[in-house]
Amino acid sequence: MATVANKFLWGTASAAYQVEGGWQADGKGLSNWDVYTNRYRITVPAIGKQETGNVACNTYSRDQYLRDLGLMRELGANAYRFSISWSRILPDGTGRVNEPGLAYYSRLCDDLIAAGIEPMVTLFHWDLPQVLQEKGGWSNRQSVQWFRDYAAIVIRALGDRVDKFITFNEPFIDLFLMEPSAQNIIAGRSPNATSAQYGEQATPMHHWILASALVTEDFHKSGHHGMIGVALPLVPMKPVNPESAADRAAATLGDGLVNRWWLDAVFKGTYPADLIAVLQKHNPAFTVPEADMAVIRANPSDFLGINYYAQAYAREDALSPLGVGWMNTNPDEVKMFNGPVRPDELYNLLLRIKREYGNPPVFITENGAGFGDFDEVMQGDTVKDPLRTDYIRRHIAAALKARTDGADLRGYFCWSLLDNFEWMQGYERRFGIVHVDFATQKRTPKQSFHAYREMIASNAG
Ligand code: BGC
Repeated sequence: MATVANKFLWGTASAAYQVEGGWQADGKGLSNWDVYTNRYRITVPAIGKQETGNVACNTYSRDQYLRDLGLMRELGANAYRFSISWSRILPDGTGRVNEPGLAYYSRLCDDLIAAGIEPMVTLFHWDLPQVLQEKGGWSNRQSVQWFRDYAAIVIRALGDRVDKFITFNEPFIDLFLMEPSAQNIIAGRSPNATSAQYGEQATPMHHWILASALVTEDFHKSGHHGMIGVALPLVPMKPVNPESAADRAAATLGDGLVNRWWLDAVFKGTYPADLIAVLQKHNPAFTVPEADMAVIRANPSDFLGINYYAQAYAREDALSPLGVGWMNTNPDEVKMFNGPVRPDELYNLLLRIKREYGNPPVFITENGAGFGDFDEVMQGDTVKDPLRTDYIRRHIAAALKARTDGADLRGYFCWSLLDNFEWMQGYERRFGIVHVDFATQKRTPKQSFHAYREMIASNAG
């Protein structure tokens, strides 16, 4: 593994579909999300209206993103995590390269570096070329090769300037929450996934893990000096009722599904047997070839990206997939969009990774919050968001404490610089430390922006 001695990274994170807009610009092909939002009005069940990422934060415009880079500089950030839109690079999913798409990201990297900001590139953050979706998407085993070819093109084009790549963002959230919900909405069913769908989704999950391992192998074989990892949505699971054996079992199974599956795969080269047995009950055809496991075992990730938002409380619930209910159990009086606010659990999680997974280099690749309009109050030339401010302060403190206590933490990325397109929730849920007026693209730094700037300044060096 290449070792890159580096300064601690302080940054913000984003994803192509959530910020870029320019959905048909310069030869870009359609992605599944272009189709979900424009053709299937996917946001309607959650927010009652159609919203799309067609314009979003308009960062496909260089004039716009240069202004946003100015904000990053003002923040004191030295890194920026963003994702690549596959359909901008390969409009047909495979084969013909769309040079203007590649040029956009190449220039973005140059502009970031000129501003003293290190680019960290996510290869896949949920937007798949629609042509590949129509060939079965990630359920099709050929997707492993599609991804490998696409990754090679991006790494070849940007690798001279990008030190850290991330193969996939949040396998569990995309494959078990977003994709089944999207398919259910399109079919006119209730958005919630079923156990049978979870069983089916084991196959694309395995394809992601295998594809990630193969791209890691290709990356090192190409002689690249940097690091390649994955960004996992890690969610510490506790039983709703610690006295109940059924709730404790639900928490263990939930931990297997959301956390242990991929962690065990990339750092131990195994899949959790308890979980696989449950998935096979719902999908007896799901088996994992030993040859695939050998590839996975031989190619661990160089670093772990942790997307941490919240802890969860799990309970036995026959109506939830695999009998594990954890989506509607948040006991907090004021509810954060992504679950119970527990900074201590971030500390515990970082020490668990150190203890159980060999203390790999870790970046917090996402951490942030949204609570609702009451925490987004425009006041003069700023926006008061005291809850988000407090959330970010406490999570950074917990992360730095874990670092002091031996976790190999190398950076922190706040989600997100800008309010942006929040998937099924459209523009209704704001996570930015900079407010965006989507009608005018006006940016207004929030209280949390100023607080994060102070934290970066006092912890830099
Ligand atoms: C995802 C982001 C999303 C954020 C806030 C993460 O699950 O990676 O795309 O916007 O959470 O919900």
